[in-house]
Parts: sequence; structure tokens; C-alpha cells
Amino acid sequence: MNNNASFGYNAWFQPEVAKLAAKKLPKISPEVVGEDAFAAQECRDLLNQIFEPGGKKFPVSLDINNHLPAESFSLMGSTNGVKIEGGDANGLLYGVYNLFFRLTRGEDITALNITGKPAVRMRMLNHWDNGDGSVERGYSGKSLFWKDGKIGYDLALLKDYARLLASVGINQISVNNVNVRLATAKLLTEEGLPDLVKVAEVFRPFGIRLIISVHFDSPVWLDGLKTSDPADPKVAEFWKEAAARVYKHIPDLAGFLVKADSEFQSGPNSFGHTQDVGANVIARALQPFGGTLYWRCFIYNCLQDWRDTVTDRPKAAYDTFFPLDGKFEQNVILQVKHGPSDFQVREPNSPLFGAMPKTCQALEFQITQEYTGQQKDLYAWAVQWQEIFEQPFNESRILRDLIGQEVKAVVAVSNTGDDNWCGNLMAQANLYAFGRMAWDAGLTAGQVTKEWAALTFGTAPAILDPIVDMLLASRHVYEKYNAPLGIGWMVNINHHYGPSVDGYEYMKWGTYHRANTKAIGVDRTRKGTGYTGQYQPYVRDLYENPDTCPEAMLLFFHRLPYDYVLKSGKTLLQHIYDTHFEGVEGVEAFIQTWDSLKALLPVEAYENVSVRFNMQLQNAKEWRDVVNTYFYRKTGIADAKGRKIYE
Ligand code: GCU
Repeated sequence: MNNNASFGYNAWFQPEVAKLAAKKLPKISPEVVGEDAFAAQECRDLLNQIFEPGGKKFPVSLDINNHLPAESFSLMGSTNGVKIEGGDANGLLYGVYNLFFRLTRGEDITALNITGKPAVRMRMLNHWDNGDGSVERGYSGKSLFWKDGKIGYDLALLKDYARLLASVGINQISVNNVNVRLATAKLLTEEGLPDLVKVAEVFRPFGIRLIISVHFDSPVWLDGLKTSDPADPKVAEFWKEAAARVYKHIPDLAGFLVKADSEFQSGPNSFGHTQDVGANVIARALQPFGGTLYWRCFIYNCLQDWRDTVTDRPKAAYDTFFPLDGKFEQNVILQVKHGPSDFQVREPNSPLFGAMPKTCQALEFQITQEYTGQQKDLYAWAVQWQEIFEQPFNESRILRDLIGQEVKAVVAVSNTGDDNWCGNLMAQANLYAFGRMAWDAGLTAGQVTKEWAALTFGTAPAILDPIVDMLLASRHVYEKYNAPLGIGWMVNINHHYGPSVDGYEYMKWGTYHRANTKAIGVDRTRKGTGYTGQYQPYVRDLYENPDTCPEAMLLFFHRLPYDYVLKSGKTLLQHIYDTHFEGVEGVEAFIQTWDSLKALLPVEAYENVSVRFNMQLQNAKEWRDVVNTYFYRKTGIADAKGRKIYE
């Protein structure tokens, strides 16, 4: 951490905020003594930012307590000092950050009695970084890890990054894109590994283990084999040797991550095998070293004909993987995107969660805002994640109840790069929230957003409250001007920013709303594509019926006429018009609020966000007008409130 660093760079470790909080505390002079040298040094460095010398001596002791579970910690405070205990070195470090954050938020540490324990062991960030330094779906500058085809980084920057991630409990990262190209495929070779070793060294003391995204065709790419058919003994041998090589260099590597048979990547299916056959060959190679294989389930027909109304993309992952329950090696974790489409603004949860009791699963979120405004538009993912955790799995459990049970890992696609970590300062809230909610899915969006805002901007209500309110409103404001009622995909093709209602309508990607002059939506009930049948009976019945289907997802599950009456008493069409006008008004309100805070905000922060809000306003207006005009032209029905809709 660097006192001279910019506000954005400091993220949620703001020296000025911490110092201000300390001024309100009794004058103490902490003396850190501890078992773990790294955690103790972190603790000293952080506390030195807060307290000036000369106060009452205040011991802060750091001890490993083997009776505590791995990665957990306890904090006990009295007027005579603070005792931090960790189940291991990682737990201790989490305790240190927890203490620092409490101090920064001005909490009384002399009466602490806190324990912390993660709900899942694996809390992972996937970087979609390419060898040339570009970041797929990245809106925060260049890669933190890659430059000119090789690993290339700034050591101090990477260390600060590791601290940011560890401070919210992230403990695994992949540093290369799941769409692996040759430069990053070479991470498995003697050519690529020495550089990766250096990255591992930076992250190791922070309790963060690396993962390598590997290409299914690595045996051909890297070893000149004629095939990567997993049934070929030479291919199995390749993976064994590759794993042995990697673990010789990085003994604590967490494992490999694979995107196979997905969006033109090859995989077991290319050789006529089911997914387990491909995954198991690689998983077995990792077993002697305790490595995990993360195998992504983002598999669908990406060459669909739009005329085909039988194939239904959301069904694909379940159809592919459900029959394979029990067939995967124990060290395979199936990595499932939270929804069956692709990180859209509103989706039901994937029916795969909890449906494969003999198979380990990971829940994948996206922090980078590919479809949610690309870090120009304000979007607090925490609100959506909370909604996702609260969706029912069956009559007695919600998704949150599966975390740490069937769902062994929580994963997200990173939103970071070399532009102030997240480009938009407000998008740092999403990185923070992901770590916190992966650690404890029971935290609400309100809690994590408030924590982040207090650490970043301080606890004064005049600044804290409006910022928290804006963030908490942002997901719904964005949703209002986006594709209506869960239908998704009305975005510009390829880059995915801004509206194009029919952009994906006649494409090969399986992404159709099928609007005509009378109706819109896809019938995914048992009378339609049958998608609802993939859910547990209770949930299936809920979604099957438009009366019980959550309205926000109505058009995902049902095809309905424009004059269908919603619970609000409005027609579907009027709802579309209204929400699109309201969305723009929501953004205008954000701008007003932000401007009213100008004098209270650091100039850098004000400007960083202000510029983006103005882009968001243009975007929201474009969405409003394109969507409203589209439906007006389709239906010929005017807005009941007579507002301007272009002909
Ligand atoms: C989306 C995204 C791609 C990405 C893919 C994935 O389709 O647009 O850029 O590669 O998801 O998750 O693998």
C-alpha cells in the first residue's frame, strides 16, 4: 500500500479514511507480536497507517490456533489489547484485514468478540487475460499479468492486487483466459512455467493459489501429438507429464480450468466422447498432486438455425451433464454459470445446481460487466447475487443452502486490469462484494455495499447513505432500460454494449425473443421447449404457470401477448414503455445525487464516475428509444401516458 497512490488505486484500503477514523479512537500505539511473520508485517504496516506514535501501548498478538478450522479466525479485544487467532496462516491474515477494516470503519476494537469462517473452501477469480495483454470482456485497461505474449507484471502492483483479493477472502486465481491461445497454453511448458512461478511467489503469502486454464488440444499444440482424443494412451501420458512438470515448479498449484466443447473450442465431444471421458483423463493426471480440475459446463449449440424452435439453448448444459452424475473423478468440479443463458441481467438459476448429488459443483458469476453496462453504467452485482442465492432449489431449500454443500466453490470472472483495478471506481464495489459473498453467501447486498462504501469513502452519513442507495438501486435501474422481463439478449452483437433488439434474433447463438406483432417470449414450459422440466418439481411448477412465475422472468419462461395484464394492472406493453422511461429517469437521479456530493468527494473520484454517468445516460436513452420504438412499430399501440416514442 502506498500513501501517495491515487484514490482509485487504494481501493478499499484508503489511508485517509483510516486516519480519520482513528482520530475518533482513544490514542493507542499498537505493538504487533505474532507467530506468522508475514501476517505480522501486514498487520504492522496497516496499523501504522492508522495510529501515530505516542499513544498507550496496545499489544496486538497473532497466534495460530490449531483448534480453529482452516482459514478461519477469531478476534478478541479488550482495553488491554487485541488477540487475533487463525486456524492457519491464511486465517490469521483474514483476521488482520478484518481488524483493519473494523478500525477504518471506526468500530470499537476494545470489545471485540468475532469469529470468521468461510462457507466454501474455494473462492476463485478467473481472469480472462490474453497473452498480448488484452482482457476478454475487460473494461479496466490491460492485463495485470500479461504483456507482449509473455507473463509481464509490475511486482509492487501485483502485491497490492494480491492484498486486495486476500482482504476479501479470495484464495484461488486463474491468470489466463479460458479461451486459451498458444501464448498462454505454454504455461504448461518449461518455457512458460518459470514466469508463472514468480507470480505464484507473489500470491502465495497472501494465501492465494494459482490455477492454469489449459486448452484441450494442448497435446497437439505443445507436444506435436496427432490427436488430443482422451481415449488415446499418448494423450493421457501427455497430461500426466504436463501435471508432473507444473507441480515440480508450483507444488501448491490449485489445479487446471478447462473450457471444452464450448464456443468452437474442441473437447471430448469432438472425438465422440461424453464430457466425463475428457475431464477424467486430465483429472487423473492432477490427482497425485492433490490438484482440482475445474470443468466448465458452458456447452450449447452455437450454430443453431433461428428457424429451429425445438433446440433451446438454456437446456443444453443440463442435457449434457445431468446424465453423467457419478461418472466424474472426485477431483473434478463442474463449473456452472449461475444462469442457463450467459450472465444476462435477469435469468433463473441453472437447473444443474444440486441436480447431480454425486458430483462437485462450482457456481460461476461474472464480475466484469459484459452485459451489464461494461463498467460505464452503474451496476451493483451484489443485488443480483443476493437474488440468485435466494432463488428456490426446491420447496425447502434455496440456492444459498447449497453453498458449501453440493456447491463446493464460488467463482467469478474478474473485472480487473491496470486502469485503477476496475476502471470505474464504483465497480470496485463488485470485486469487494464478490469476495465477501463467496466467503459468506448469507451477507446481503446492503451489508456488503455499505461495508465497501464505508471503507472507500468513510462513514459520514452524508456521503455513505447516498452512495449505498445509488448502488443498491443500480441493478434495477439498469434492468429497467434493458431487455424486459427476463428475455435477455437485446444487445448489440459481439461487443454487447447498447441496444439492438433484433441483433441476435436471426443469429446462430440460440438467443431468440421471437417478438411478432401480437406476442413476445419463448414458451419454455412443458408445452413448449420443456426447459421447465429440468427443475425440481416445486420450482418447475412455479415457473410453469405465468401466475406463479416471478414476473421479472415472465418472458424467459412464457410467450405472452402484449395485452397480457401484469400484477400491477398494466399490460405487458405498457410495462415495457414505463420501465424504459423510468430507467432513464433513474440514471438522471444518479447524476443529480453524484453532483450533489461533488464537494464531499475526492476530485479524482468525482470525475472518474461523473464521466461514466454521462455515458450511461446516453446509453439509457438509446435503450429507451430503441426498445420503445421497436415495440411501438410492432404493435401500433401508443403509450398510455402519451410520452415521446419515435415513429
Ligand atoms: C460469453 C462471452 C465470451 C466468453 C464466454 C465464456 O459468451 O461473451 O467472451 O468466452 O462467455 O464464458 O466462455
